[in-house]
Amino acid sequence: MNSEKVIVIEDNDTMRLGIAETLRREKYEVLEFENGPSAIKEMQLRNAAIAIIDLKMEPMNGIEVLEKLKELNPKIEVLMISAYGTVDDAVKAMKLGAEDFLTKPFSPDELRVRIKKLWKKVHDERMLQSLIEQNQFLNEEFFTGYEEMVGSSDSIKKVFTLADQVAGKISSVLIQGESGTGKELIARAIHKKSQRSENSFIKINCGALNDNLLESELFGHEKGSFTGAVKQKKGRFELADKGTLFLDEIGDISQAMQVKLLRVLQEGEFERVGGEETIKTDVRIISATNRDLQKLILEGKFREDLFYRLSVIPINLPPLRERKEDIPVLINHFLKKTAEKNHQEVKEINSEGIKLLVSYPWPGNIRELENLIERLVVISPSEKIEAELIVRHISGNLKIINGFEGVPLEEAVNAFEKNLIIQAMKKSDGVKNRAAKILGISTSVLYYKLEKFELI
Ligand SMILES: Nc1ncnc2c1ncn2[C@@H]1O[C@H](COP(=O)(O)OP(=O)(O)OP(=O)(O)O)[C@@H](O)[C@H]1O
Ligand SMILES: [Mg+2]
Repeated sequence: MNSEKVIVIEDNDTMRLGIAETLRREKYEVLEFENGPSAIKEMQLRNAAIAIIDLKMEPMNGIEVLEKLKELNPKIEVLMISAYGTVDDAVKAMKLGAEDFLTKPFSPDELRVRIKKLWKKVHDERMLQSLIEQNQFLNEEFFTGYEEMVGSSDSIKKVFTLADQVAGKISSVLIQGESGTGKELIARAIHKKSQRSENSFIKINCGALNDNLLESELFGHEKGSFTGAVKQKKGRFELADKGTLFLDEIGDISQAMQVKLLRVLQEGEFERVGGEETIKTDVRIISATNRDLQKLILEGKFREDLFYRLSVIPINLPPLRERKEDIPVLINHFLKKTAEKNHQEVKEINSEGIKLLVSYPWPGNIRELENLIERLVVISPSEKIEAELIVRHISGNLKIINGFEGVPLEEAVNAFEKNLIIQAMKKSDGVKNRAAKILGISTSVLYYKLEKFELI
């Protein structure tokens, strides 16, 4: 629960009590003050995490109180409230470090949402601070047992534990996660840890091939079975015998291929295209997709029986924005990796830069982060990569956070929209019709936008 302190400085009794009541119900510890000087006198506020300050007050106005509080505790997150809020006031308050501005009257729900947002910021900030203080991400190798995979968040640790548990088994594994979250990497790691590691890890990208090609790639073909089949060819099921077959982009295969695949999985045998001989196969199947298979099942596009065959052990890789703790660790990992690749000294990113990277929502997940770090290392003229360079090279979203300067309108609007969609998808746990409701758009418009922004 939130045992953190929130201070409310508001001269109107009804207003102040209302705010305090709403927050207490959310289990915040609330300290109330009728005016600025009494709040400032109170030492306790030094370790309060959040302050809510009214703009119009006597003898000190809200802006003056804000200034003083920030002086005493620069880390305090401030929400300004006012009935007469003008743009000028808001800009002034923001410049002095207020995080948000709320115009009266507001509903308890609105207040809750804003405070929750501030609270999340406090939490992220602290987590980052402690990482920086411990210098953890700079000096320590995180031992994950997976050579190329790093991460220290609870959610990635759970993935590692699960992967450890399943590595030695034959059960099929289905890895789901957004693009760039590390699905292939974990698939390879599971193979390496299994008793099958002496044998092959064979990958096939099911989304990239049409049915005929996919069938002949998976099952092989006999000479003369179709035009162009000039000699017999072994399929991936045969090549992967005693090893692991990685079916990537499994959500993209046609209904006809689903039936064929189901048969091999059920019976452990198949025939080459154009062949009579029944071939037995002993493969461990790992499949991956960035699509929502449950949804495809509901829409009748993916067979439920095949889904259960494939996902005896489901592994979900959370998007990077939901495991921000991993970002500093990954940055360090990629800085080293790029240095090795280019035979250079390892470059550094200062804590301001790391903060920027942690606050970015990473729609392209780890792949996007890896590419950015590599680019930064190459273009940075000095050994220390400056925050300013990062701002220039990160795509639209971050510029939103920093106030749009120099961003073409369309890019800014797109980035803003994308950000809102990501937030709504997060809030709705990925349930698209709920996310559409939050955004006030139809589900079909949401789909269109998700595709446009490459979020599915
Ligand atoms: N935990 C991790 N530690 C270090 N590098 C990682 C980690 N996870 C992913 N990567 C790196 O990020 C990149 C993307 O990973 P990967 O190709 O496995 O993602 P994916 O989920 O298969 O993406 P897609 O859906 O687009 O195919 C790779 O270069 C990979 O090495
Ligand atoms: Mg992949």
